[in-house]
Amino acid sequence: MKLAPHRPSKDEKNGLKLSPFSGSAATAKAVAQIAGVSPATVKRAHQFGKALEVLEQVSPKAAEVVLRGEVKDALTNLHLVPAEAMSFVAEQITNGERSIKRAMEKWGALQREKRLKEKMAEVLPKPTQPFELYCCDIHDAHKFVAAESVDLIVTDPPYGREHLHLYDALAKFAVHALKEGGICVVMCGVRYLREVMETLSRHLNYVWTLTYLTPGQHNKLFPFRVINAWKPVLYFVKGELAEDAQWVFDVIESPQPEKTDHEWQQNLEAFTDLVRRFTHKGMVVCDPLLRDWNDRRGSAC
Ligand SMILES: C[S@@+](CC[C@H](N)C(=O)[O-])C[C@H]1O[C@@H](n2cnc3c(N)ncnc32)[C@H](O)[C@@H]1O
Repeated sequence: MKLAPHRPSKDEKNGLKLSPFSGSAATAKAVAQIAGVSPATVKRAHQFGKALEVLEQVSPKAAEVVLRGEVKDALTNLHLVPAEAMSFVAEQITNGERSIKRAMEKWGALQREKRLKEKMAEVLPKPTQPFELYCCDIHDAHKFVAAESVDLIVTDPPYGREHLHLYDALAKFAVHALKEGGICVVMCGVRYLREVMETLSRHLNYVWTLTYLTPGQHNKLFPFRVINAWKPVLYFVKGELAEDAQWVFDVIESPQPEKTDHEWQQNLEAFTDLVRRFTHKGMVVCDPLLRDWNDRRGSAC
């Protein structure tokens, strides 16, 4: 005779397991007679008592809720909860869940999700690059970068009056992308420094200004009769600066202009120095103003 294959019930799929009654059938019958109930009720009470003991070890608070009779299906379902799911079920009960069956459905869903993630991790190719690159306008950058996922933003937006609106977009992006206490370092021009500071300060907290010296690159600004040989690098933070934030030396010197690929290009060595001053291993760093990366070399970010 061929036996039909075992089809797991919905409860079994969610992890609910039948645990056998450990007392003998004769004992159950004897106790049932004394108590005036059926042997099945005695078995259930025994299994419930055992399961309650396990629950009590995991969470006395959850066991109390069950004992008060607030979890309606505890008598019929608590003993079906496998040991590895008991902590989860206990947590659900203390958080207000009042059905063991529902708690186990959530646990089953979590297990399925976990298995799926493990499978995906096996089949997906491992990242080979230490960076990810998205080509988009700064106004869309939040769609590519998860909220509160970045430790540090280092960027060099365009400096002209017509580009001032980008600083507002940058600050809004920083509020979205930075973790609490995350740092936003912004190189800018001197002429619109006041406007840039005001814009960034609407969303972030000002910490300091670093001086970025450009000795080999003296710009003569005729309308103001100024020969410029430095740039401000503004240091802002989202929320409060962490007590263990890195010490930062606040003067950087750019060795020589490097305009081999782009008229706005920074000297790679100096910009790398700037990034390094704010970073340590494992940090996520982002530069959201590098739209031209595709056809020109980007910064050290
Ligand atoms: C001063 S340059 C930065 C140069 C960079 N630090 C380097 O060394 O190559 C400013 C950058 O902002 C980019 N940019 C301008 N408007 C943008 C926007 N709306 N969204 C994203 N990037 C933008 C420009 O394409 C340019 O790459």
